[in-house]
Amino acid sequence: MEKGRVCVTGGTGFVASWLIKRLLEDGYSVHATTRDPGKNDMSYLTNLPRAKEKLKLFAADLSEPDSFNEAIDGCIGVFHVAHPLDFENREPEEVVIQRAIRGTLGILRACLDSKSVKRVVYTSSVAAVQFSNDKEREMVDESVWSDVDYARKVKYLGNSYVVSKTLTEKAALDFAQQNGLDLVTVLPSMITGPFINPQIPGSVSAALSMILGIKEMYHFLYKVSMVHTEDVARAHIFLLEYSDAKGRYICSSDDTSILELAEFLSTKYPEYQIPSAGELKDVKGYGYEQKPNVSKKLLETGFKYKYGIPEMFEGAIECCKEKGLL
Ligand SMILES: NC(=O)c1ccc[n+]([C@@H]2O[C@H](COP(=O)([O-])OP(=O)(O)OC[C@H]3O[C@@H](n4cnc5c(N)ncnc54)[C@H](OP(=O)(O)O)[C@@H]3O)[C@@H](O)[C@H]2O)c1
Repeated sequence: MEKGRVCVTGGTGFVASWLIKRLLEDGYSVHATTRDPGKNDMSYLTNLPRAKEKLKLFAADLSEPDSFNEAIDGCIGVFHVAHPLDFENREPEEVVIQRAIRGTLGILRACLDSKSVKRVVYTSSVAAVQFSNDKEREMVDESVWSDVDYARKVKYLGNSYVVSKTLTEKAALDFAQQNGLDLVTVLPSMITGPFINPQIPGSVSAALSMILGIKEMYHFLYKVSMVHTEDVARAHIFLLEYSDAKGRYICSSDDTSILELAEFLSTKYPEYQIPSAGELKDVKGYGYEQKPNVSKKLLETGFKYKYGIPEMFEGAIECCKEKGLL
């Protein structure tokens, strides 16, 4: 069934490439943007079923906000997934934030100008809700915003990630409200599961860190909320299609901890050397008390998660094996 044309920004990334795969399967035509379509091997996108007829790649960079215009023109929906991710602090925080916000506002302006875009779905993150020093709060929901001053102290995923995700989502929602643009935001927790990228995505490495032996990543799992790649793609498409969607939606199916994951992995995958509870006793989180992320609002729309932690790990491990990464 032909469902119309949509644009996906940051199309080569982990989340966006799985979303493109799902959109093509669902009958959408896709305009995907990447900074340099000629630079890397894009065959994992161009060889997707239906891609020959239904997928077109465009060059666009958040540093040049107008560069998305051509890809967006004529689309009925836009999934803005791209974000300048700088976990190694290569650039000053202000540079990353400015690029993320200016690029995002350029995309939203192009959506307004197109006259064809009915809704924008922006990929935010639970990072935009969960960083606060509020000891009273037991869980976080969509009414909460991360405290950027507090996030600057915690420095989770580098100096700029939490601050740039929080400020960009706020700027996008403000712009949409001021200009009458229909925009919803999706806030996934740590995403893991299957992937089509040739390299292992960062969040999958973190999830598999006890199998891969990456001790520097154990703290990400100390207390962690997780969601399956396919459920994230399904939630994005659901929120494009669901007529009553409004505002922010946390997308997170499971809350767990490194100790629970170690027990699960050592039972299910005895072939891997999973660290024991004793070996993990000194692993600490980031010094902030991570609260469970409640995705009640998404569930109230009728959306259902299809997968849990066993399928997240099964999908991730199978993909790593198929690509010779494990
Ligand atoms: N993975 C998770 O656990 C997780 C959780 C919550 C939210 N998210 C959000 O999901 C989105 C995708 O993350 P991901 O995990 O899929 O990361 P990823 O694989 O690194 O993808 C990020 C994408 O952003 C694009 N990008 C970076 N800088 C850009 C720029 N200056 N201009 C245009 N595009 C740029 C890159 O595209 P090119 O290199 O092709 O240009 C890349 O495809 C991000 O917004 C992230 O905050 C991810």
